[in-house]
Formats: sequence, C-alpha cells, structure tokens
Amino acid sequence: MGTDFYNIQFCEILTEKAKIQPFTMVIFGGTGDLSRRKLLPTLYHLCKDQHLPEEFSIIGFASSPRSDDEYREFVKRAIEENSEEAIDWGCWENFSRHIFYLSGGFEDEDSYRRLSLRLEEITKTTDKGTREIIYYMAVPQQSMPGIIDRLSICKLCKGVFSTRLIVEKPFGSDRASAIELNRLIGRAFDENQIYRIDHYLGKETVQNIMFFRFANSIFEPLWNRRYIDHVQITVAEAIGIENRARFYEKAGVIRDIVQNHMMQILSLVAMEPPIGFEADYIRDEKAKVYRTVRQMDNEYIDRFTVRGQYGGGVIHRQKVPAYHEEKDVARDSNTPTYFAGKFHIDNWRWAGVPFYLRTGKRLKKRITEISIHFKQPPLKLFSAVCEISEPNVLVLGVQPHEKITLNFGVKHPGIGNQLYPVSMDFNYERDFQGNVHFPLPYERLLIDCMKGDQTLFARQDGVEAMWAVVDPIIRRWEETPAPEFPNYSAGSWGPEKADDLLRSEGRQWRIW
Ligand SMILES: NC(=O)c1ccc[n+]([C@@H]2O[C@H](COP(=O)([O-])OP(=O)(O)OC[C@H]3O[C@@H](n4cnc5c(N)ncnc54)[C@H](OP(=O)(O)O)[C@@H]3O)[C@@H](O)[C@H]2O)c1
Repeated sequence: MGTDFYNIQFCEILTEKAKIQPFTMVIFGGTGDLSRRKLLPTLYHLCKDQHLPEEFSIIGFASSPRSDDEYREFVKRAIEENSEEAIDWGCWENFSRHIFYLSGGFEDEDSYRRLSLRLEEITKTTDKGTREIIYYMAVPQQSMPGIIDRLSICKLCKGVFSTRLIVEKPFGSDRASAIELNRLIGRAFDENQIYRIDHYLGKETVQNIMFFRFANSIFEPLWNRRYIDHVQITVAEAIGIENRARFYEKAGVIRDIVQNHMMQILSLVAMEPPIGFEADYIRDEKAKVYRTVRQMDNEYIDRFTVRGQYGGGVIHRQKVPAYHEEKDVARDSNTPTYFAGKFHIDNWRWAGVPFYLRTGKRLKKRITEISIHFKQPPLKLFSAVCEISEPNVLVLGVQPHEKITLNFGVKHPGIGNQLYPVSMDFNYERDFQGNVHFPLPYERLLIDCMKGDQTLFARQDGVEAMWAVVDPIIRRWEETPAPEFPNYSAGSWGPEKADDLLRSEGRQWRIW
C-alpha cells in the first residue's frame, strides 16, 4: 500500500463571509403572511449574524398606509412572533435603521414614481455608490404582471439600477401560464436577473444530494438501473391547509407540492453529473431529467396515480376537521390534498426503475425523505433461514431530521445463520453539533441571490418542463369526477389505493 493512502488531507472549511455588495431590497407585499413569517425574520437573522453588508436597505411595499416607524414596529412584531430566539435589542436597533415603507397600489403607476424617488433618495444616503436593487415578489400571483409592467414603464428594471427579481412559487398554474409569465417577465428582465425561488432547495439535505452523489466514489457506480430496484420520495405533512384555503382550493396538492418541491428532489436524485458546479451546468442536467420523465396518458394516470382528500381524524392526540369542513373550503370540494404516483425516467440510467412519489396533508407525521431501494442479491443464499424484504435501502432524510441512513443485513450473533437488519447513519444535527450554524432555507437562498448565485433557483426551461410533467395529471383529475372524497382519515398514511399501487408490484411504502 503506497504512503499516499496514509496521507490524509483535510479540506479547510472556510467560513463563508458574505461578499455582498450594498443593496436595497424592495419587498412587494411587505406586510403579507410570507413577509411576516419568513422574510423579515430571516433578514433580521442575516443582519444579526453579520452576513449583510453595512450598507443595505429594506423597503416594504404594500397597500395599507403606514409610516416608516409604524412599519418598523410591524417588522419587530414579526421577528418576535416568528423567531425561535428572543430578539437582541442591540441588533434590532441596528437592523431597524435600514427599514423603510412605501404605501401604494400595485396597479397605481404613481406609486412606482414614488418608489423611484424613494430609491434615489435611499441609495444616495445609505449606499456607498452602488445601486443594486432586489425586488422580492411576495405577492399574490395575479398581481405579478401588473407590478412587472409598471416597473418596466417606470424604467426600474434595467439601466438606472442594477436589479434582480425574486419570484415566489407557484410559478404559474400550468405550463401555458408559466410560459406566459416567463414571457412577461422576460420582456422586462434578463434570465440572469430572475431568481425563481423554491425554499426546498435551501434545505441542507436537499443540497447534500448532489454532494453525496458526486463527491463520493462509492455510491455513484451503483446509482443506476443495474443496482437500484426503485426509488421512493415522500413529502408528508401533518398540518392541514391552515389559513391558505383560498389558495389551496384552486391549487390542490399537485400545484402546491408535486410540480415544484417533488420535481426538484426527483431531478437531484436522477440527474447526470454536471460538467461543473456552475448554476447553468446544474440546471441543464435538471432540465434534462424533467424532459425524460415519461409523459402520462389518461389510461396511465387512472392506473398509476392516486388522489385523496382528508376526512376528519386525530393527529398528535388532537381532533382535526375534514378538509371540506375547513374555513373557506367548499363543502363539496373536489380539491385533492393527497397524491401518489409512479413515474418513469426514460433514459439510459433509469430505464425500468420506477420512482414512486407521494405527498399529502394531514398525514400521520411530518416527514420528507428519499429512499433508494437496492435490488436483492442475485442469489438468496440465506433465504432458507430468513427472508429479508428490504436488504439495502439508502435513506436521505430531509425533515424533520436531516440525515442519511444505510440499511443493510449482518449475521445475527449466535450459532445459526441468521440475517439481521442494521443501519449506519449520519445525522446533521448530531454530527455537526456545536460546530456549525444550520442556515434556514430562506437564509441560504436570500444570501445566494444577494451574491448573484442562481444555482439553487429554477430556470425558465426547467419550470416549464416541470409543468409539462404534471399538467396531464392535473387536467385528467379536473376533467373526471373525484372518487368518494374524503377517502382518507386525518392521521393516517393516505388512501388505501396508494398502498395497492405498490403492493400490486410486490413493493411497499416505507413506514415509520
Ligand atoms: N405564505 C406563505 O407561507 C407562502 C409560502 C410560499 C409561497 N408563498 C407565495 O408568496 C406570495 C405571497 O403570499 P402571502 O401568503 O404572503 O400573501 P398575503 O398574505 O395575501 O400578502 C399579500 C401582500 O400583498 C399586498 N397587496 C395585495 N394586494 C395589493 C395591492 N393591490 N396593492 C398593494 N399591495 C397589495 C398586501 O398588503 P396589504 O395587506 O397592505 O394590502 C400584502 O402585503 C404568494 O405568491 C404565495 O403563493 C407564500
């Protein structure tokens, strides 16, 4: 064995200090639910942890009248109510000086003239000569076209300022509307200015899928149809629709979760190695995956997808209502809150390997994980003694715990020849305990946008291709009457048909 083997090299982990230029962030919808619960607390934490440059400004833009001071009060309450730790008054004092408010209507051109003047004024007084503006669209989808149009008319997109645009999910409501939205935004902004956000991509384990696959030599050779029997992706939520009934009634589970979060995860699991770690190389490979997902016709959809809507039940010992009993939901609503389906990726690597996806609300537990189920060994040498149904499963846990577990069989101690299932695991919280800060998804994504890194944001072609995968299912489900809804109890693992889907193929969903 050569001496190199013993020459262990350590990779120095550099603490990434923000190399962010002074900027002004305009939050359209700065008083909405997303701003209150996520954006404003995240910006405060970034400032507190000294990730932001000294010179930055945040302008909340919404219709309700407020002064700058009243908005600062609003932001303070948002941080107090939505942060895990108590507010640090010294940091708040510093942060609050950077906050401003502009009251205006999204449709009202005059508001944008006032915004322009405000930007001139703020960038002059607070920034050292740079004019980086980030527009955050924390607004209802239907407001977007009007805002983009008026920003463009008032010359606030290109030229005077250097700008970026963050757009929230859902991006459109089908492929046609996504194309239209892309066309509209594309008239005002270049693709390299557009950041289509999906907070799932800000999660450590989701990013880690790529590191795990492409930075280690032991798994990638097995990552294909020769060794993998099937893949399962589960995004289970215990919560219901909370206060989002009006959005959810129109969207349903596919638009809410499958088209974006699940497709993103699917692409990271299935993509080919990119030729480099730059944003476009990665996004090229992800887009290829969406394009190779087999198109589903009606017959396939009826056979290999399952829809569900939750009835009442008990979760965490609490009685919860059925979906159709929730506030602002139609009593005879056809909106699905559960999806399960089998996908095929028709390329060289994955031919014949089914990807089973399931997601739903009011399920037994909150859990998001990807499990890679390897094929059985060619000969079951030990099967006379013990039949193991799950010999090797690699589990990438995304939430509630970010971890990686490999399940395998060992000999049970004793005189007989008995196989026994055991596991090796890596757990982010446990194994990096005390050493590192785990950024919240929005922290990571906001920082990336401030730095101009688009890697974790969806590109135009990717978004449209994701819709192309799910559009036929949405159409079919909307055209045909729903089965007897509700068809699963809150607190269960979903409709029985979802179990049948795998059982009929000699497999079963992982259970916890
Ligand atoms: N909430 C979430 O957790 C979440 C998660 C992921 C994605 N999203 C997406 O994020 C976006 C925002 O969602 P949200 O839940 O924050 O919405 P929301 O609570 O309804 O907030 C809407 C915001 O827009 C402002 N607004 C609405 N109409 C206006 C108008 N005509 N002129 C000026 N301001 C106007 C409201 O201000 P006033 O109240 O002052 O009028 C409010 O600040 C949506 O696209 C949603 O799909 C939300």
